[in-house]
Amino acid sequence: MTNGKRVAIVGAGPSGMAQLRAFETAARAGVDIPEIVCFEKQADWGGQWNFTWRTGLDEYGEPVHTSMYRNLWSNGPKEALEFADYTFDEHFGRAISSYPPRTVLWDYIAGRLKKTNVRDFIRFQTVVRWTEYDAEREVFTLTAENLPTGETTTEEFDHVVVASGHFSFPHVPQFPGIETFPGYIAHAHDFRGAEAFKGQDVLVVGSSYSAEDIGSQAFKMGARSVTASYRSAPMGHDWPEGFEERPAIRRIEGNRVHFADDSSKHIDAIILCTGYLHKYPFLPDELALASPNNVYPDGLYRGVVWQDNPRLAYLGAQDQWFTFNMFDAQAWYVRDLILGRAELPSEAERSASIAEWRERFEKLSSADEEIRFQADYVRDLLRQTDYPEFDLDRVVEIFLAWMRDKKADIMGYRDRVYRSVMTGTLAAEHHTPWLEELDDSIERYLAEDPAKTPQNAELKRSGVTPRGRGRTPLRVRGTAALTAGS
Ligand SMILES: Cc1cc2nc3c(=O)[nH]c(=O)nc-3n(C[C@H](O)[C@H](O)[C@H](O)COP(=O)(O)OP(=O)(O)OC[C@H]3O[C@@H](n4cnc5c(N)ncnc54)[C@H](O)[C@@H]3O)c2cc1C
Ligand SMILES: NC(=O)c1ccc[n+]([C@@H]2O[C@H](COP(=O)([O-])OP(=O)(O)OC[C@H]3O[C@@H](n4cnc5c(N)ncnc54)[C@H](OP(=O)(O)O)[C@@H]3O)[C@@H](O)[C@H]2O)c1
Repeated sequence: MTNGKRVAIVGAGPSGMAQLRAFETAARAGVDIPEIVCFEKQADWGGQWNFTWRTGLDEYGEPVHTSMYRNLWSNGPKEALEFADYTFDEHFGRAISSYPPRTVLWDYIAGRLKKTNVRDFIRFQTVVRWTEYDAEREVFTLTAENLPTGETTTEEFDHVVVASGHFSFPHVPQFPGIETFPGYIAHAHDFRGAEAFKGQDVLVVGSSYSAEDIGSQAFKMGARSVTASYRSAPMGHDWPEGFEERPAIRRIEGNRVHFADDSSKHIDAIILCTGYLHKYPFLPDELALASPNNVYPDGLYRGVVWQDNPRLAYLGAQDQWFTFNMFDAQAWYVRDLILGRAELPSEAERSASIAEWRERFEKLSSADEEIRFQADYVRDLLRQTDYPEFDLDRVVEIFLAWMRDKKADIMGYRDRVYRSVMTGTLAAEHHTPWLEELDDSIERYLAEDPAKTPQNAELKRSGVTPRGRGRTPLRVRGTAALTAGS
């Protein structure tokens, strides 16, 4: 049953999928929901988690969306992102480890929706090209292109939910002399794997998660050295031998990179881990969010409602400590606004609320504070909806334990286990330490007997020997003490 309204969702990544789930949950409870059309430019759902080997433009000349790479494993504990209405226990039927690879998380996100009919609402391989708003009639007109056929369609909607992600358009700064560099240069968006860096001197530029993890991938795959160049502050981990941090790049002369501390180093490959742009090429500027990557972008009431036109909502527009369950909280709230179950405050009240949160946001000065801030943000949203409640303070504890574990062992933290906030289940230790594991397939990950599912044979043939071989994983030295919530 539909209630006569039409809602467009742009993107079927985790945020768009959360919006679909929110409406589907209401429909299951007997509520009349709007007619929903979800536009997804890729051939499958999952957004960033839908890996492709392609880089640059895809087979239709469309920019490739995902920035993920082979061998990407979750960089935060799964216990912090677990859905409250669909647990890992329910999906896998047994305990799995705390830091699963991409394939496993993709399976989990999809699993929640596979039991419903919401896939029917998605138009795959269909990219939204342009949006217009008619203020008098209060309708949006969306023009979309079916990529395989080239056919364009124009349709009207009462509400638009933007769920197109913001880690897809690379921010690519200029560095003096970089045009003289004869080696491999790519932005993290186009990085697909570090196997080719074996024996090379690799430079990652940036000091956030891409630099940390792509640098670690290069180290794991046998790079001769890894150097991370920071602009503001070093990551400061206790890096293993062969991995070091240096300050900003001053200039590049051929293979020699000069840094702000007057040091220089021979480099074979540069990966620019310099972040992403909020970019919405299908929206006119009066509807498009323009913000740096932060936890409270300006102009969004409760982090989702476009202040200048509340019929437009954004999901997942924040920098993300919380991910999947935050997208759920946002999607449930947006759903309830659209259904008229939640009341939209006046423009002045919304403005005051944004100002209040922004003032708090401006005062944040550490990762711990940002995590608590985002937990409070999610808590505020949850109070407005009927999404199943969960203990956000416990999730904060897990994040803090995660940060301590990274400090203790940056190459071994993914071997740690935590307890689910939703079910109380303690994660299982994975059969192979992360630093030794070359195969990110779900088959190998779930294998009861890993000896029967040998790691990617191609990699073995290519001579890549994971750095972790023979190393004592830290997890055997105190899992209990480091298990948050136990
Ligand atoms: C390299 C990398 C690693 C990450 N690792 C983790 C991790 O380990 N754990 C974690 O919790 N989070 C991680 N994240 C964060 C990630 O942003 C979220 O997990 C999640 O994917 C965000 O979901 P989303 O739906 O908001 O955006 P996305 O996942 O980016 O999905 C957006 C969707 O919109 C579609 N789209 C875009 N424009 C259009 C258009 N015009 N028309 C139609 N469709 C369109 C895209 O094709 C895509 O499917 C990572 C992000 C990156 C970049
Ligand atoms: N699962 C995984 O393992 C994994 C791996 C990679 C990424 N991710 C996710 O991907 C998302 C994006 O992370 P990200 O690291 O790509 O982006 P990010 O967090 O926005 O960080 C961008 C980095 O680029 C640096 N930078 C920007 N301009 C620069 C310049 N001109 N010179 C030098 N440095 C510059 C910034 O430095 P300043 O600090 O000076 O601003 C910052 O360190 C996050 O959600 C992250 O969790 C996850």
